[in-house]
Amino acid sequence: MDDGGVTTIGGRAAIDPAGSEAARRQFRDALGHFCTGVTVMTALVPETQERVGITVSSFNSLSLDPPLILWSIAKDSVSYNCYQMGSAFAVNVLSADQEDMALRFARTGRDKFDGVTLHTGLEGVPLLDGCVVYLECRTEARYPGGDHDIIVGRVQRIFNIGKAPLLFHIGALRGLDV
Ligand SMILES: Cc1cc2nc3c(=O)[nH]c(=O)nc-3n(C[C@H](O)[C@H](O)[C@H](O)COP(=O)(O)O)c2cc1C
Repeated sequence: MDDGGVTTIGGRAAIDPAGSEAARRQFRDALGHFCTGVTVMTALVPETQERVGITVSSFNSLSLDPPLILWSIAKDSVSYNCYQMGSAFAVNVLSADQEDMALRFARTGRDKFDGVTLHTGLEGVPLLDGCVVYLECRTEARYPGGDHDIIVGRVQRIFNIGKAPLLFHIGALRGLDV
């Protein structure tokens, strides 16, 4: 509905997402209403054998044939350079009871894997115990996307455990009751 130049829907005024800090916050708040699952992307840095992991909700399917997935990584992430073209990584889809993992891997630091039960995936990539699904991937492409990069992964191997997933909605983590 257009009421004299100001567009409203359901009594809410349109928001311009560019510009002020307040507008950016409103953009972020609006995006938060799109409910997602929660993943942890894990990798092993070949040169140092260092394990890296980052909590990610921007994961999505991209293509069935070939089997491709995508996600985005912030440019200011410490592990920004750890998912280079051709390198192996894994998508760990968190289960309803893994809120602690989501929080642990959302904190920058070197001790993220301390005390975490792991399986060893392809090329030594660490897989977190207790997840719903594991997708072992190789980085197929990387594209610029503003303050993030879009990472496309080609799926090499899948483990489908089949458990209730963890959800992320308006800034809150909650398990889906299935
Ligand atoms: C639920 C949730 C979802 C997140 N999704 C993303 C994401 O999609 N991409 C991203 O770059 N950071 C995301 N983050 C933030 C990172 O997990 C966080 O910045 C992390 O500390 C980065 O790790 P690093 O700096 O050690 O690489 C998310 C955090 C949470 C709690």
